[in-house]
Amino acid sequence: MIALFDSGIGGLTVLGSLWHRLPQRDYLYLSDQAHFPYGDRPEADVRRDVAAFAAYARAAGAEALVLACNTASAIALEDAKAAFDGPTYGVIAEVAAHAAARSRCGIVGVLATTNTCRTHAYRDAVGARVEEVACPDLIALAEFGGANDQDVAREAAEPLAALRAAGADVVILGCTHLPHFERALRELTAPWATLLDPGEALAKRLARDLPERRENGTVRCETTGDPAAFARRLGQELPKICARATVAHIASSRLRS
Ligand code: DGL
Repeated sequence: MIALFDSGIGGLTVLGSLWHRLPQRDYLYLSDQAHFPYGDRPEADVRRDVAAFAAYARAAGAEALVLACNTASAIALEDAKAAFDGPTYGVIAEVAAHAAARSRCGIVGVLATTNTCRTHAYRDAVGARVEEVACPDLIALAEFGGANDQDVAREAAEPLAALRAAGADVVILGCTHLPHFERALRELTAPWATLLDPGEALAKRLARDLPERRENGTVRCETTGDPAAFARRLGQELPKICARATVAHIASSRLRS
């Protein structure tokens, strides 16, 4: 079983990419909605809670842990590795390795949380000129659902204008919530930038690393937030992402006693 961690429903985009390439695997999706947004949380709190989730995933028998959350990957990858004590993947390194090669002008843009931008994790990993722009309001739109294309265009206007003005011709969707708006964002950036989804890049890597299986996989989702609200959001999102998934269990993870 592969465990994924995210601060909310954003990591379902990473689950979708993994499911597409490895549909015979079982997945445990862990969501810390009680503490969303991670993008504005103190670093020490993120590190403590990500380590707790990693230990929980290990106790649940996961064979690999994916920090789907960019913010957690930027701040707490080493904490997760120590607590999980097995194959642990962040979501930044794979997309960063190929981003510079996709840019004609050598300028890579990143849309991400305030915390991810502050750590400069993408700038350090990409190895080219990187412009990082925070878009917390756009991210919150994805978490709480119900946004239409006009809402996305309104909240994305300023961050995208900043990246365009900086000359970026590649934009990494450096927060798991943003691929939920991929179609709308693609239309807004089509004339000047190519979008890159870190979840897609990571899924390709895992498909190389993990052996194939024959049986059909399952998905189990747990949240620290309100299970009923989570179930409603999953009902909207899961059928779009992994058609054969079943939600085997929805419950508070009770990580903090
Ligand atoms: N899922 C987080 C990420 O990928 C962003 C949302 C948050 O602020 O918690 O960075």
